[in-house]
Amino acid sequence: MYVQNASVPDRKPVTVPGLLAMKAEGRRIVMLTAYDASFAWQLESAGIDIALVGDSLGMVVQGHRSTLPVTLDHMVYHTAAVARGLAATMLVADLPFMADRDVAHALEAGARLVGEAGAAMVKIEGAAPHILEAIAALSARAIPVCAHLGLTPQSVHKFGGFRIQGREQAAADRVLAEALAVQAAGADLLVMEGVPVELGRRVTEALSIPVIGIGAGPHCDGQVLVIHDMLGITPGKRPKFSKDFLAGRDSVAAAIATYAGDVRSGVFPAPEHCFN
Ligand code: KIV
Repeated sequence: MYVQNASVPDRKPVTVPGLLAMKAEGRRIVMLTAYDASFAWQLESAGIDIALVGDSLGMVVQGHRSTLPVTLDHMVYHTAAVARGLAATMLVADLPFMADRDVAHALEAGARLVGEAGAAMVKIEGAAPHILEAIAALSARAIPVCAHLGLTPQSVHKFGGFRIQGREQAAADRVLAEALAVQAAGADLLVMEGVPVELGRRVTEALSIPVIGIGAGPHCDGQVLVIHDMLGITPGKRPKFSKDFLAGRDSVAAAIATYAGDVRSGVFPAPEHCFN
């Protein structure tokens, strides 16, 4: 049973300025998804910097084929549960599909995820004009924003599947321009998903905000994985960019600690987890 009053590790809370300092000092940021209080506590105990309540919960928790069926109510429910398991780890929550359809909906979603559920930052996919407007509006109301570019799962139907983005020169240049645009709009953090190593490096070097990669190579300022993937319990084939950290270890805690250590030391991701 989850015990809410388990002792809190002695750690300073992770903050937006703290993440900027980590980038400046070259200290890699460790991010991992969580969807409930017990796993949140595992992340907290392992000293993970950021817990992400991703709309990937639609796939790994709810069993859908994409993230599109996830609603704002689902996100608020899971974010509130994760918040109860955290102390110093920063909590980031996804704006689900269509919660960003215009500025008013994005602000409503941000208010619920931060005010009601306890997130410290919201994540939003893409760099279309209405997304840049939403980032600026959230930021102006003191809601920190994590942008998400590259293989953005909410665009799965546009992409024709979960396909690596930015392989051609023109496409890579477009992703870099989008990254600069979300930063200029006020984003505090950027998740880059499913892009070649060289593009991950270009974006990370061009931006002053931290860039967290998932299938974006080793040069990013940090890494994120879906916890079910890194525990090897996602049904089907393991994504190339992930690794089963539970294999050969005897506990979830050991797997998470190994992931954190490998990200911080630069051992993960290795070449076999990257796209060229
Ligand atoms: O929804 C999610 O878990 C995500 C990560 C894959 C970055 O967006």
